[in-house]
Amino acid sequence: MATLGETAQPVPPGWRSGSGTLPDHFLFGVATAGFQVEGGFNGPGQPANNWLAWEQLGRVTPSGDAVGFWDRPEEALDRAAALGCDSFRLSVEWARVLPGGRGVDRAALDRYVAIVDGCLQRGLTPLVTLHHFTHPDRLGQDLWLRPDAPARFAAYARVVVSALAPSVRHWVTVNEVNVMGLMTYLLGAFPPGRALGLAETAIALDNLLCAHVFGYDTIHAARPDAVVTTNNTSLTVYECDRMLIDLLLARSHGVERGDLDGWIAERRRGHYALLPAPGTGEALLRRASARLAPYAPTGRTRSSPRRVLDALDASPHDRTLDVLGIDYYDPSSARHFRLPGHRTSGGRNPSPARELWDDPPDPAGLTRWLGVQHALAPGLALWVVENGMCNRVRDGRSFGRLDGWDRPRYVRENVAAVMAAVDAGVPVEGYWHWSLVDNYEWGSYEPRFGLHGIDRSRGSGGGRWMETDAMGRDAAGEYRRVIAGLRAGDRTVLEPG
Ligand code: FCB
Repeated sequence: MATLGETAQPVPPGWRSGSGTLPDHFLFGVATAGFQVEGGFNGPGQPANNWLAWEQLGRVTPSGDAVGFWDRPEEALDRAAALGCDSFRLSVEWARVLPGGRGVDRAALDRYVAIVDGCLQRGLTPLVTLHHFTHPDRLGQDLWLRPDAPARFAAYARVVVSALAPSVRHWVTVNEVNVMGLMTYLLGAFPPGRALGLAETAIALDNLLCAHVFGYDTIHAARPDAVVTTNNTSLTVYECDRMLIDLLLARSHGVERGDLDGWIAERRRGHYALLPAPGTGEALLRRASARLAPYAPTGRTRSSPRRVLDALDASPHDRTLDVLGIDYYDPSSARHFRLPGHRTSGGRNPSPARELWDDPPDPAGLTRWLGVQHALAPGLALWVVENGMCNRVRDGRSFGRLDGWDRPRYVRENVAAVMAAVDAGVPVEGYWHWSLVDNYEWGSYEPRFGLHGIDRSRGSGGGRWMETDAMGRDAAGEYRRVIAGLRAGDRTVLEPG
């Protein structure tokens, strides 16, 4: 791994780095997503999204009231403001805005406008995601395989953007393009749950990237000063993360179509050159992925759709990313596999994959990763749009982590890792912790990520907010202390308490 000193590159104009202080315009926030916190989906008379069938079949826990954010957004916004945050990330839910049959649901759209205004009134810059893993049930579970998916998304984006653009400058088009494609068609963990569908994964990723480009163009048409990104989850295997970003950047690098595969092959080499030497499992994954890659394959591969190239050519913008959004949990692709029967907190896991979100914290890795991303895209500022730690609550019992980490330490050390990157000249402009509060984690309430816990056995409409996190620690207090300290120029808040 190159050191950060070696990877530092020219930074965007106006950036002050290495001063040891927080950049003036740095945003501290918390990240949420509509389906995970709003509640009120997939029941009778409620908007139905692509998780409806799985909820009805009992394949997942019903989302139910979630955290009651739709009815009581004030509670979450007040808590975020009380942390000292100056930004709040939320998503708009497609199934609410265009439930089908009735055209645009104006009342739902107005409610989102009110929520965004609620952010602004509290000094929270809204960061709005247009698509966070969900779409209306009526579009089918396989929406992202349909050729008309990007155009459908663009039509939805136009509706949302026309209502919110006056108040919202910061946007995520499509959340985690890579996770959406991989979880749906390679790992089978999102509906419709088909695993090892390589061709389908490639189609879905292509369509999702098109959707990003259309979303970018739509937002900028309404608001030229917008700051727009998408945020892959960080993954070491090139085709699963970085390649998707490189496709979006190719035009701004002046890469002609005929040269694209050669350029991607070069970028792949450059990406791996900046990462530590791989172990056996990681090397195997990288080789297999490169052989099957839809761009610059090293093996014989079936032709894959490349519609995103047409979308990029048709865009009025040379570059359809204003900042680089980074979601950081555990980028090591090989670490996501485990021997069946491995220990987890709360029992053994029979599957050959690591339990979802059972990610080992690695703050030093975050600093390095940000340095690498900057080296690969100098001139683009970075946002850490998600970063957080999971423990589990099963049958009302909270399980700690086998590695002994707690959330206050995680918050402190990961923010310190971001600051270390800033000091090294990496232009990080914001950090959004995942998440403010325990929420619906894609089929289950067991995984807990909140700075605030939720006691689901008490209270109504989603349970009662706790002052502590699910492990009984004052994670919210620690984030508040860290934010306040850094704003006051006091770095000692990053030292172990
Ligand atoms: C990310 C998702 C987010 C949440 C976290 C834990 O992949 O974007 O919704 O589930 O993981």
